[in-house]
Amino acid sequence: MYLTKEEEKMLNGEYGEATRKAMEILVALGDIFGADRLIEVSSVQVAGVSYDNIGDAGLEFLNELAKDGKVKVTTTLNPAGMDIENWKSLGISEEFAEKQIQVIEAFKKLGIIPTCTCVPYLIGNLPRFGEHIAWSESSAVAFANSVIGARTNREGGPSALAAALTGKTPNYGLHLDENRQPEVLVKVKTNLKFIPEFGALGYVLGKRIGNKIPLIVGVKHTTTEELKSLSASIATYGGTSIFHIAKITPESKKIKRPKEKIEVDRKDIENALKEINDEIEGEDIDFVCVGCPHASIKEIEKIAKLLQNKKVKVETWITTARFIKKLADEAGYTKIIEEAGVKFACDTCMVVAPLKGRFKTLVTDSAKACYYGKNKNNFKVKIGTVEECINAAVNGKWKK
Ligand code: F3S
Repeated sequence: MYLTKEEEKMLNGEYGEATRKAMEILVALGDIFGADRLIEVSSVQVAGVSYDNIGDAGLEFLNELAKDGKVKVTTTLNPAGMDIENWKSLGISEEFAEKQIQVIEAFKKLGIIPTCTCVPYLIGNLPRFGEHIAWSESSAVAFANSVIGARTNREGGPSALAAALTGKTPNYGLHLDENRQPEVLVKVKTNLKFIPEFGALGYVLGKRIGNKIPLIVGVKHTTTEELKSLSASIATYGGTSIFHIAKITPESKKIKRPKEKIEVDRKDIENALKEINDEIEGEDIDFVCVGCPHASIKEIEKIAKLLQNKKVKVETWITTARFIKKLADEAGYTKIIEEAGVKFACDTCMVVAPLKGRFKTLVTDSAKACYYGKNKNNFKVKIGTVEECINAAVNGKWKK
């Protein structure tokens, strides 16, 4: 891979040890993927924040970098293993909290904005169409590429950090026009109505076309919340980091229709929802969590309306970005929600928090949360609309 004179100096350690290490990572990646050069990025989002995932080895790596490293571009973090301020009421141990705070401190020393969210685009880390960025969280990557039309590969924690410390990333994969073209035309022959149905579409596509890039036709209208849900499930169940929806996503206008075609009808969506759902004994549930990807202010507003003058019977969380929770505070939604007995879990989520063994069942509106709830935390899962989730929380039972 070609390096400029300046980049060679960075690789030779003339700008310090952290920059040298970062350049080493980028050059190795560029060589593996056949990149011709490094390109500048305008924004970074770093995953590998939860102490539950990175452990002491990860913490040590961050502390080493923080000795002389500083990020060059706006950089935010993916969810951590706990609410940084309110971890006690969410049942997190002192031991875990201490380590998690050390991880966040190391990121802060590096100059990273210590906000932990998988929806950086809703809190101001918002790239423009065509901008090159380096993001890690799979749902955010799919959203950035597909909905915004920014360009990012799905970075690992170390490669995103390396991009942040240098302001650069190797020019390969989804940074190039030719790798963003659709491979399968997906005709959706039913009206998708709720967030779980967009999650179900991601599930169907994952099963039927794997990580091929779809051009979806037949979807007439979507909300930001539905698109974030689709981004999460398509990346989880199929692995693609980009999709196009005709007349909705920005690049769909200038791409060619692929020859391979599939159709998705009502039955496919209903079957997907059945397959995502587990059987649970009786109807009793013990955990309800919405906000995967992190809840938007609109979603929180809706939940506040649903919870007015109600009380929940089981542990119920809304996971969101701290910044969005502050908006909810200002708007009065937090008061209604907390009076109903629901907890906000900012900076974290039901997947990266250490929840294994604490609950048996998870009720959620997110297809992605169902996947990780089953596979990481061994929960039995139920997916439903936000109304169904709140009803389940209020009644302590799952009823369709
Ligand atoms: Fe975000 Fe956690 Fe879901 S990182 S996308 S809330 S699994």
